[in-house]
Amino acid sequence: MADTLTKLAYQTFQQSKSYFGLAHKTLTAQVMNLVSPTNNKTEPLPTETLLLLQNRLNKLLEQDWQDSERGVYPSELLFDNPWEDFFRYYPMVWIDTTQTWERIREKRYQEFSPAIKTDGYPKYYLQNFHYQTDGYLSDRSANLYDLQVEILFNGSADAMRRRILAPLKQRLEGKTQPRVLDIACGTGRTLKMLRGALPDASLYGVDLSPAYLRKANQSLSEVRGELPQLLQANAEELPYLDGYFQAVSNVFMFHELPPEARQRVIEQCYRVLQPGGVFVICDSIQEADSPEFAPMMRNFPAMFHEPYYRNYTTDNLVERLEQAGFVSVETEVHFVSKYWVARKPA
Ligand SMILES: C[S@@+](CC[C@H](N)C(=O)[O-])C[C@H]1O[C@@H](n2cnc3c(N)ncnc32)[C@H](O)[C@@H]1O
Repeated sequence: MADTLTKLAYQTFQQSKSYFGLAHKTLTAQVMNLVSPTNNKTEPLPTETLLLLQNRLNKLLEQDWQDSERGVYPSELLFDNPWEDFFRYYPMVWIDTTQTWERIREKRYQEFSPAIKTDGYPKYYLQNFHYQTDGYLSDRSANLYDLQVEILFNGSADAMRRRILAPLKQRLEGKTQPRVLDIACGTGRTLKMLRGALPDASLYGVDLSPAYLRKANQSLSEVRGELPQLLQANAEELPYLDGYFQAVSNVFMFHELPPEARQRVIEQCYRVLQPGGVFVICDSIQEADSPEFAPMMRNFPAMFHEPYYRNYTTDNLVERLEQAGFVSVETEVHFVSKYWVARKPA
C-alpha cells in the first residue's frame, strides 16, 4: 500500500514537472514569435514521433522507479528537487530568456560580461551554449542552469542522469570505499545522486567552470556524508595519478566537445582508471540508434547554440572508447539519452 502511494506520488510529481516544462516552452515560443521573431527554422514533429517520445518517457520513469525499488538508490532521490532555487530563480529564467532572444536574433554566440575572465579556457568552450548568458562562466548562469535543463527535458533530466547509477553500482560491488570521479560535474546533480547510491564512496568532481563548481559545492554541502572533492580542471588533462579511480562518470558533456577533444577526454579517463575500472557516459541519443528522432536532433542545434552537436550525433563513441583501450563497451538508450558503459582491462 505504502509503495503504491509512493509510486503514485512519484508519477504525479513527474507529470507536474512535465506539464510545467511544456507550458513554459509553449508560452516562451509564443511570446518570442510575437516580440522577437527570428527566421530560425525548425521542423515540426509528426504526431507518431510525439507519441513515441511520450512512450519512451513513460518507460524511463518506470525504470527509474524500479531501480529505486530494488535498492539501487534511495527513493528520496526520486523526489529531490531544488525548490529553493526554483522559487528564487524562476523569474530570472524569464529575464535571461529575453536576453537570449536578442542573442539569437543578432547571432551572438560568444559573448561574455566584461567582468568575466576568459583566459586559459579552450576556444571551443568559450560559447554561449544554449545561448545562455555568460556561457558557463558566471554565478547567474550556474544558478539558472538546473532549472533550464529541467524545462528543456520536461522534468526528466534527473531520471536520465540516474540511469548511470545501476551499471556503476553493479560494477563496483564488493569494493570498499571506491574512488569515483564525475567529469564535467557542473552544479553537482550527478554527484548528489552518486552520494545517494554509493554512500561509502569517495567522490570527486571536475569541471572547467569555477561558478558551476561553487554552485556544486554549495548544494553538496547540504547532503549527508563525506563532501566530494571538487577541482577546476579541463577533462582533457585530468589532474590525477594514473589508475587512481575505480569508476569515472560523465553526464551531458560529449555533445559540447569538438571530436578531437572527445577523444582526448576518453584517453584521460582511461589513464586515471585503475585496471578493471569502469567508465560510464550519459549523453544525447544519436542518429544510428534513434533514426526516428532525426528531425528532433536537427532541431536541437537550430534552437539552442550547440556547435558540436551535429557532429556528435554521428560520432562513433564505441570506436573512440576501444581506440583508447576500453573493452566490453555496452550501450543503452533511455528516452532521449544514450549510455556507454566501458571497462579498462584488468
Ligand atoms: C551540459 S553541462 C553538464 C553538466 C552536468 N554534468 C549535468 O549533468 O548537468 C556541460 C558541463 O561540462 C563542462 N565542461 C565542458 N567542457 C569541459 C572540459 N573540457 N573540461 C571540464 N569540464 C567541461 C561545463 O563547464 C559544464 O558544466
